[in-house]
Amino acid sequence: MKLLVLNGPNLNMLGIREPSVYGHQTYDDLCTLIRDHAAKIGADVEIYQSNHEGDLVDKIQSAYQRVNGIVINPAAYTHTSVALLDALKAVGIPAVEVHISDVSKREEFRQVSYVRPYCRATIAGHGFNGYLEAMDLLMAEANV
Ligand code: DQA
Repeated sequence: MKLLVLNGPNLNMLGIREPSVYGHQTYDDLCTLIRDHAAKIGADVEIYQSNHEGDLVDKIQSAYQRVNGIVINPAAYTHTSVALLDALKAVGIPAVEVHISDVSKREEFRQVSYVRPYCRATIAGHGFNGYLEAMDLLMAEANV
């Protein structure tokens, strides 16, 4: 079982950016948590972060026929990117959308998600744990 965890713009700034919203843990802390969880559940995980929409599209395309599940936090591109939605549709790999914060309780522009219609589930407001829950969901789906 191969999982790809994708993170969009500014998530490399975790620990520095708006700690009252995203907490004090860093992006490296998040990667460690994800790797440890992958080892626990027996998944092979690749983690990728980019501040550039096209890089994220390229990464999704590169997962075609190579990856069994995608965990995606598109960050700000959640609310703007038809390109990410189309890339997910193109590869047809099961995906779960994750947000560290509870976007449903934030500004109105964060209520829109372009990737949501494609994703199996959206997990928001569970902090870093949301990524682990998403990995579990994809593992469970693969084992049905
Ligand atoms: C986010 C929420 C987005 O609205 C925001 O642009 C982010 C992070 C989250 O994880 O809570 O960068 O996706």
